[in-house]
Amino acid sequence: MTAQLIDGNALSTQVRAEVAQRAAALTARGHRPGLAVILVGDNPASAVYVRNKVKACADAGFHSVLEKYDADLSEAALLERIEALNNDPAIHGILVQLPLPAHIDDHKVIETISPAKDVDGFHVASAGALMVGEVGFKACTPYGCMKMLESIGLKDLRGQHAVVIGRSNIVGKPMAMMLLRANATVTVCHSGTADLGAITRQADVVVAAVGKRNVLTADMVKPGAVVIDVGMNRNDEGKLCGDVDFAGVREVAGWITPVPGGVGPMTITMLLVNTLEAAERAAA
Ligand code: GUN
Repeated sequence: MTAQLIDGNALSTQVRAEVAQRAAALTARGHRPGLAVILVGDNPASAVYVRNKVKACADAGFHSVLEKYDADLSEAALLERIEALNNDPAIHGILVQLPLPAHIDDHKVIETISPAKDVDGFHVASAGALMVGEVGFKACTPYGCMKMLESIGLKDLRGQHAVVIGRSNIVGKPMAMMLLRANATVTVCHSGTADLGAITRQADVVVAAVGKRNVLTADMVKPGAVVIDVGMNRNDEGKLCGDVDFAGVREVAGWITPVPGGVGPMTITMLLVNTLEAAERAAA
């Protein structure tokens, strides 16, 4: 059996069209959604990501500003900038691209962003809201994974075993919480897990979010399982690849997300969704 693809580009196009429509309606009422993106330093991958985020905003009809600073920007100056954006009524979402230079404390920066504008969903208040089922912003990558599951009819995961590989604050942990909220039975595996394959072979849904190639191979997957690949790595030829051995796993799984063209485009799409939602809440 060859797995069916969950096409992140197609789903993104569909969701972004809905976002653009809602944004136009809000703009007509005088509340154009606005996102501020802050980039500190010259990490080339970060530069590409922020460019894509700003372009996605423009395509959806949002207002956006990209603020670029040299790597020697002081932490105090960055915090001051965030405070100003917290108080700017034209800005509904604030995103500080990570990683930040070593002399700046990520945690302090994230906690300075107003939870009402935390469209990355990284603030402790956002993580807490997700944990207890309150209104907040969901981290974009796991939120995108949930949308992908929903797109294949898996909105409610009652009776299903979901296995998350990875426990980062940005993906693994919020992913586990979202799956739990969708009624899945959730297992979180990580570098300290003894026999990963023994656990993933029991999974109806596997989310691989480690950042390492071939973390999940065909022998580790239950026939027919849904496999979501969050990884973004390079293979020996320099080609983009995920955490999953795609060629092998697609022969066993029922559904699989490709890399590229899977989770990646959904992350930016959900950033748009969160920013729109922030603007709608501000306008209410
Ligand atoms: N760096 C890598 N991914 C992300 C993300 O989703 N948001 C931010 N702010 N920085 C990142």
